[in-house]
Amino acid sequence: MQKKLAEVLEQAGVVPVLVIEKVEDALPLAEALVEGGLNVLEVTLRTEAALGAVEQIAKHLPDAHVGTGTVLNGDDLRRSVDAGASFMVSPGSTEQLLDAAAESDVPLLPGAANPSEVMRLLERGYRYQKFFPAEAAGGVPMLKSIGGPLAQVKFCPTGGIGPGNAADYLALSNVVCVGGSWMASAGLVREGNWAEITRLAKVASALK
Ligand code: 3PG
Repeated sequence: MQKKLAEVLEQAGVVPVLVIEKVEDALPLAEALVEGGLNVLEVTLRTEAALGAVEQIAKHLPDAHVGTGTVLNGDDLRRSVDAGASFMVSPGSTEQLLDAAAESDVPLLPGAANPSEVMRLLERGYRYQKFFPAEAAGGVPMLKSIGGPLAQVKFCPTGGIGPGNAADYLALSNVVCVGGSWMASAGLVREGNWAEITRLAKVASALK
């Protein structure tokens, strides 16, 4: 199930983590990011507009891979699938969420923050995991250390990553891509500053 997701993450490099307050921002924002070279987009389920935004992007931007983030339980997972998400991301992993994901055709990137969590997900077959909250949970040194005994797991770290440290993460052999909100901050989206978002996306995309 994660095979499809693996291909998407391998070519992503940097995954914008988006908080979309207004559905009408979804398309111009996604277009600005795709124009900047970032086409794997995570729309967090933290706003009323999130699912509508995913629907719009999935329907109108075939060049983008749009998924949902902040997927906390089975309900979030089903709502994501109904909206047309092509993948789902969770900050952690619970039994309820993993049971629901096992029934779904849409792949999940579940979160882990330490070796035991990584191992539990590995027992369920998850070779691709989100490392969250990346900086607070030990950052690059922690991922390097995990990569010794658990080298078969590839991570997408997010949380506290920005232009200053993204390349350090991407240089690790167990990092497949990084996620972050820096190129599409709430302020830039609110202002509708799509040109600046494209510029920042280009810089981020060059890190691949
Ligand atoms: C999040 O949970 O919002 C993501 O991990 C992104 O974190 P960031 O805002 O620190 O990039």
